[in-house]
Formats: sequence, C-alpha cells, structure tokens
Amino acid sequence: MSEVILAASEGAVVPLHAVADHEAQAFLETQPPFVQAMARFAEFKGRAGQVLSVPDAEGVLELVLVGLGGVCDPMAFRALPAKLAPGIYRLAQAPAEVARDQAALAFALGSYRFDRYKKPAGERPRLVVEGVDLEEVRQVAHACALARDMINTPANDLGPLQIETIAREIAEQYAAQITVIEGEGLLEANYPAVHAVGRAATPERAPRMIEIAWGEAGRPLVAVIGKGVVFDTGGLDIKPSSGMRLMKKDMGGAAHALALGRMIMAARLPVRLVVLVPVVENAISGDAMRPGDVIGSRKGLSIEIGNTDAEGRLILADALTRAAELEPALTLDLATLTGAARAALGPHLPPFFTDDEDLAAAIGRHADAENDPLWRLPLWKGYAEALDSDIADLKNDPDAWAQAGAVTAALFLQRFAPAGPWAHFDIFGWNSKGSPGRPAGGEAQAIRALYAMVRERFA
Ligand code: BES
Ligand code: MN
Ligand code: ZN
Repeated sequence: MSEVILAASEGAVVPLHAVADHEAQAFLETQPPFVQAMARFAEFKGRAGQVLSVPDAEGVLELVLVGLGGVCDPMAFRALPAKLAPGIYRLAQAPAEVARDQAALAFALGSYRFDRYKKPAGERPRLVVEGVDLEEVRQVAHACALARDMINTPANDLGPLQIETIAREIAEQYAAQITVIEGEGLLEANYPAVHAVGRAATPERAPRMIEIAWGEAGRPLVAVIGKGVVFDTGGLDIKPSSGMRLMKKDMGGAAHALALGRMIMAARLPVRLVVLVPVVENAISGDAMRPGDVIGSRKGLSIEIGNTDAEGRLILADALTRAAELEPALTLDLATLTGAARAALGPHLPPFFTDDEDLAAAIGRHADAENDPLWRLPLWKGYAEALDSDIADLKNDPDAWAQAGAVTAALFLQRFAPAGPWAHFDIFGWNSKGSPGRPAGGEAQAIRALYAMVRERFA
C-alpha cells in the first residue's frame, strides 16, 4: 500500500486550508481578490463537506479550501480524497480543535479502496501533515485497512485457512507465539462448541481455534476475541437469500480482533496480549449440527441448539472460557452477532455491553474522542431466563417474549465471560450505502476507540 500521508514533499505541494463556517468570512478576507471571487461564485461558506479547488490564471491548482461546518469533526477529512485531484497537498491550516493527527488518520481512512478484483481507479491524492507521529497514524490506518480488506474478501477467497495465514503473518511480524488447533483436534483440546459449529464444512475449510500470545511476562493481560464465521448460511435453519447475501462479512469480529491486536503490538503497549479467534464456516451438510441437538462447551455447560443460525455465540462461548483460564485484566470481544443490534441502533452505531461502570465510561469517552461511535446497551438480568432450556444448562435461541435479541445474545456470552472487566461489541462492520470516504463494503468499527482506551488504561 503506497502511503497517502507524508511527512514532507520534495516537489510542489498545494496548500489546503480547512476552515470552520464561522471563520470562513474572516479567512477569505486575507486571500487575494481572485480567491475571494472564486469562493463567492462557488458559494464556499466553510460548510461541512464543501471543497473548493482554486487554480491560478494558468490553470494550475493554487490552493484548496475545505469547509468543516460548525462541529469541526476531523473525520470530515475522510471525504477529502474522493474530492481532490491526484497530486500532493499540504495541510496548511486547520481550526485549533481539529487535531492534526486525527485529520491525517481520517484522510488515510478515506483513501481506502478495495481493488483486489478490479483495476485501481488511478492515482490517489496524498497529504503532507507536519508535526504528527506519522508512524502511529500509518499503523492505525493500516490495521483498519486490514480489517476492511478481510471483510470485503468473499468467502471463496477467505476461508478458515486464509484467516489462519493472516494471523500467522501478523504473529511473525511482531514475534508473537501462535497456536492453531484444527478439525478433530478441537475435540481433543476441548473446544467442543467451535467444533460443532464448524464441522459441516469441507475438510479444507475445517474449523479452527487461533490463539496469538504476545508481550513480556508480568504485564497485565488483555484478551481480544473475535467471531470468525467465514460464511454464515444459517446452517440447517438456513437464512433466506436476502439475509445470506452479506454473510461473507460474518468474520468481521475476527478481522477486528486481529486489527486491534496488531495496533497494540505495533505500538508496543506495555501489556501482554492474547488474541483468540475461533474460525468456522457455518455450512450445511449431513454432518451439520441440528436444531434440538445438545452440545457441550469448554466451560462444561450443556447448550441446546434451538437455532443453528445463532452460531456466533457458540464459538465465542469457548473462546471466552479459554480467555477466563488466562485470567486477563481486560477482555474485549467483537462480533457480528445479531440482526437485532441493527434494529436497535442501525448500522453506524454499534452497541456494547459491560457491567463494569468504569470500563463503560472509558469506552464512551474514547469513542467520542476518536469519533468512533459506540452506544452502551444493558446486560439486563430480567431477560436472562429467556435462555433457559428444558433439557440443557442453556439454549442458544432466546424465547421470543424477550425480544431484545442483542441483549439476550450478550447475556448468553456473559455466562462464559471471565470474572474481571469484560465488554462485548456487537458490530456491523459494513457500510451498506457508500459515501465519500466511506465506500460501500467493509468498515472498521470500535477498534480505534478501543486502542485508545487500552493505551490509556495500561499506560
Ligand atoms: N451473523 C448473524 C447476525 C447478523 C445478521 C449480523 C445480519 C449482521 C447482519 C448471526 O449469526 C445470526 O444469524 N443471528 C441470529 C440469531 C437468532 C437466530 C437468535 C439473528 O440475529 O437473527
Ligand atoms: Mn447466524
Ligand atoms: Zn453469524
């Protein structure tokens, strides 16, 4: 990936002035009459989303005006790459409340495109931003691009083996230990739920449990878990075609966990890290788990399968139990777990669940600060009995009366979560509608906020 954020440039650069609406008039008055006239004709008022490229009399680009509106959200810089001609720009000016590193990161995130199967659409604009930790910006942008690439890659090219390969590459890059337990080995190693969900896939696409461990002994342990369903047919409770269409993205949690782990390792945060990624294909075959089956779990709790489409919580149950054995100081899990989370909050505002008030407050604060929106929903105990089974310790399909499917899914996970601070994120990981800087397709959610939270918590 050629870098789009630069520390400096040898050649000619076009200065880029980002202004809030209330300061646009005063700024324009400092400019030559030609620029003022151009701004007048184009009705440039510093409104959010306004971009005006001003050429000189020879037609050579002289400067660019970028409107930030009243709120001055640095994420507005995401839209810029799509609105600029290829070339090199320099962030000459921005309002004080727009952090330059966040603007640079937003520009990098907005430059993302998925061109694995399609010829790239030509050169990209690049931006010189002085006075920022460029390495940090690039690492975060790179991790987000990794998550988006993984989500965008269809299941025929991103099966369990490909996720394992990516995990091995990341582990190698940061000298981490990696263990992968596959297929029948899952039974021997006591991951029965991962095995039950993934066993219907063809042997080359066998289920596996990936565990990456990193960091010096003695440091606090952070466990990051991600749901890795490379494709979710629903199993025997097969999804209708509309519901199945996007299910290549059902490994979004795994992609996010690997990306967050990569950020933590790249920054050498003073923690120990374990990334736990159960990877399966929720497929249909003669060997598929059936509605009504009772399966075991690593924790020893028996689970009645009320619905084979509620598979994510099953594989996460075993991963959470594994995390608990390691006694982490903090556990975070990310999963494209329920349609109900979308019904509650829509695609752009992922809910999170935790009973730890301090952790909830910290997550909320960093979500705001990083412009990586998250919204807390309750682990409401009143719905816990919706998971009671007549014949097993619990069931994976909550009673319909409880309705709140994202909450009951989180309550299911809580039965397996470690005792200490734990938060669960029900992400969508996807932009259904493309907009400038947010192309339709895979999207990284929550992990920039979580990276900032982890960095502060263990500083
Ligand atoms: N992967 C889906 C959830 C999902 C659907 C996420 C659409 C994003 C978009 C999950 O495995 C699932 O099918 N959940 C069921 C659970 C139900 C059967 C209890 C759901 O949400 O309908
Ligand atoms: Mn499902
Ligand atoms: Zn799923």
